[in-house]
Amino acid sequence: MRLSDVIEDLLYGKDGYYMKMVSIGKKGDFFTAPHTSPLFGYTIGKFLKDRGVKTLVEIGGGEGYLMKDLLEFTDIEGFIYEISPRLIGIQKENLKVFGSRFNHISEYIYADAYILNEVIDALPFNRYIFKDGKWREYVFENGKVRLIENSPEDFNLPVFEGFIYDETHKLNEFLSKIFANTCRVLVIDYGYDEEEFPIFAPEGTMSGYLKHKVYYGFEALKNGMDITHFVNFSRIKRLGLENGFEVKSYMPQSEFLIKNGIMEIFNSLDEKKKEKLSGGLKTLLFQFKNHRVMYLEKFQP
Ligand SMILES: C[S@@+](CC[C@H](N)C(=O)[O-])C[C@H]1O[C@@H](n2cnc3c(N)ncnc32)[C@H](O)[C@@H]1O
Repeated sequence: MRLSDVIEDLLYGKDGYYMKMVSIGKKGDFFTAPHTSPLFGYTIGKFLKDRGVKTLVEIGGGEGYLMKDLLEFTDIEGFIYEISPRLIGIQKENLKVFGSRFNHISEYIYADAYILNEVIDALPFNRYIFKDGKWREYVFENGKVRLIENSPEDFNLPVFEGFIYDETHKLNEFLSKIFANTCRVLVIDYGYDEEEFPIFAPEGTMSGYLKHKVYYGFEALKNGMDITHFVNFSRIKRLGLENGFEVKSYMPQSEFLIKNGIMEIFNSLDEKKKEKLSGGLKTLLFQFKNHRVMYLEKFQP
């Protein structure tokens, strides 16, 4: 059994984490930017409006906070494609005020833009190690881990002995469906460029979150927690190019927010709202250190 099969079952199987337990925010297991401040969604809303976006699909909407802030700040029509029935229920409740401006979709539809905030990191992945001069994959047999000879599908750099790499499973399949349904894709997540993995994460990036505590490596598979890994942004760029997209901008999340007007939006609020949102603004700008924003547009000659 591959690690991706084990993770698929633990996260998205009948009793999987995202099916039954998932909880985001202070009382939950992990934070995301939309749970930190509405200024995140407002700034993205401005970015999308500046590009003429009228219809938007969010993949994996969590508890619906990002969609709520986007709809509050713009006149966009929003859709969420969500895999978790538990989260669909929470999203429905949190977004009911928007009436027919918001809908769930059960199949991808054509839209002006697609957005994915911390979704690719939540997809199943496989783990590889470069050992005795060859790539090997960790697989499970009768509950035990063993190594078989197999290399990552799409990792294109020479590496050193002992390097461990966690590779998103079926990323091509996942992204090509999105690329076929829009001209604009915003990917926001924690991750690295390919050449950064051996430098910053030589022991792999697999981790698990439970009540804001982090568990590393195979520990993440225990106790029903959120299992995650770092996204390879070079791979997203390559897949974008193969699907006729080009990377229009790519930068750290905090830089993206500043460049796209988060401070102007904050300063335009009344004093009471400023006071309420100032703590979240700080957290957003200083604590999401590994988060990056990649914006891809269909290539137009
Ligand atoms: C880490 S959570 C992030 C939630 C939200 N975007 C946020 O930032 O708060 C991952 C989200 O992706 C969803 N998800 C995972 N795999 C998915 C898939 N294949 N299709 C649609 N949603 C998916 C999960 O159910 C969850 O809503």
